[in-house]
Amino acid sequence: MSEKVKLEIYRYNPESDDKPYMQSFEVPVEKSGMKLLDALNYIKWHIDGSLTYRRSCGEGVCGSDGLNINGVNGLGCITAIEGLKPPIKVRPLPNMPVTRDLVVDMNHFFDQYKQIKPWLQSNTPKPEHERLQSPVERAELDGSYECILCGCCTTSCPSWWWNGDKFLGPAALLQANRWLKDSRDDAAGERLDMLEDSFKLYRCHQIMNCMEACPKELNPTKAINDIKRALVKRKV
Ligand code: SF4
Ligand code: SF4
Ligand code: FES
Repeated sequence: MSEKVKLEIYRYNPESDDKPYMQSFEVPVEKSGMKLLDALNYIKWHIDGSLTYRRSCGEGVCGSDGLNINGVNGLGCITAIEGLKPPIKVRPLPNMPVTRDLVVDMNHFFDQYKQIKPWLQSNTPKPEHERLQSPVERAELDGSYECILCGCCTTSCPSWWWNGDKFLGPAALLQANRWLKDSRDDAAGERLDMLEDSFKLYRCHQIMNCMEACPKELNPTKAINDIKRALVKRKV
């Protein structure tokens, strides 16, 4: 008989539950290296088909299965069961409206992403082929292009919990910095004008939860500091 692991999972169906509750499950550990997403899939496919969560790629690429796992944000698909203290407590990402069980409403998160205009703004005519970058210019984007917009950083940030209506949060700010650094983009002035705001940017108090939560090992705190430096630099 295979070993079993205990999980306690946040459940909430707004159509039938007065309030959320934690439900216990036992899942067989079927293989070495089994991930938390495998356990959720086991529950859904073999125990309770009503358990609701998001996932797509299963490989840490799509960013859809951000969860709070034993109190720490991470991706279910790349978090190994081994090493998690049982019972493994799985909750939705913090400070987001819960749609059902582990699924949160990400609309506000993506609205904030949209505010930083995450697309190329160039004044030069469209080239026949691609817009070229030197290897050095391309390397400037390392550490930000890898972001999969999972929301693990933003939803772990106390400043965003308290001022999430106005503070853009680490994910959007990391992306803002990505476009500021892009050698093909000509809108740095307008981008910085938008960010020069006591709430949008300056609510970051360097608590660094964001960096610790990022499953891609990115550093939004550094990105935020880079933007602050760029704002100082343009004044001198
Ligand atoms: S460093 Fe800034 S953005 Fe990151 S968690 Fe702390 S306050 Fe939030
Ligand atoms: S910076 Fe990291 S934690 Fe934040 S959204 Fe991007 S990949 Fe996720
Ligand atoms: S399922 Fe795509 S990142 Fe986890």
